Amino acid sequence: MGKDVIVACDFSSAEQVFTFLDKFKERKPFVKIGMELYYAEGPEIVRQIKARGHKIFLDLKLHDIPNTVKKAMAVLSGLDVDMCNVHAAGTSAMMKAALEGLTRPDGSRPLLIAVTQLTSTDQESMEKELLIEKPLDQVVMSYARTAMEAGLDGVVCSPLEAGKVHETCGKSFVTVTPGVRFADGDAGDQKRVTTPEKAKELGSDYIVVGRPITAASDPVEAYNRCVKEFIG
Ligand code: C5P
Repeated sequence: MGKDVIVACDFSSAEQVFTFLDKFKERKPFVKIGMELYYAEGPEIVRQIKARGHKIFLDLKLHDIPNTVKKAMAVLSGLDVDMCNVHAAGTSAMMKAALEGLTRPDGSRPLLIAVTQLTSTDQESMEKELLIEKPLDQVVMSYARTAMEAGLDGVVCSPLEAGKVHETCGKSFVTVTPGVRFADGDAGDQKRVTTPEKAKELGSDYIVVGRPITAASDPVEAYNRCVKEFIG
């Protein structure tokens, strides 16, 4: 599995994202496009960033009935992204339908990963509102196993969970991990953070890094630092 740093381009306009990406003259970062940018600019932004030579993780977290997700995934597959995702809570029928929709006539497809429990959900809200009474880490591992059995390629999780996900689902099951901060940086609203170096040690396959790069005074330097710490 190729380890890489994915830059979360959480901007609300094409202009902002291109001003940011124009700074990268050498290595073209793997870019995450989330709901904010996609809803602001539509599929054209995906085509434009792809045309500039970036790999793309389209982070739209689909969650609907299997037929709807299958058809939506067929559209996203036509955008030629490299990675996209669904909520594991949609259950294996939805995840299998997503895979079918995503697979192109020639058999190729982007990587498909699952969101387990959002990191904004804690034990208390899971128990009180979702009526799930098992410990959160067991729930995350169970969702990961279901995603693997449905044929998905990996999960989004905390770097702190990456080792256990690999133990449960195998080494080649991909872990994509946000919540990354430099040792001398500001954690912001992320609660459980690790450095790129620590994420590497813990076995993450891809780290997703947003503000430590996008809000840095020198984003290219911050990106290069992440790459150096995480990939070496
Ligand atoms: O700026 P920051 O590095 O916190 O950005 C992290 C990115 O990863 C954001 O785009 C955020 O939406 C995403 N993410 C996350 N935690 C999850 C899933 C996605 O921080 N559990």
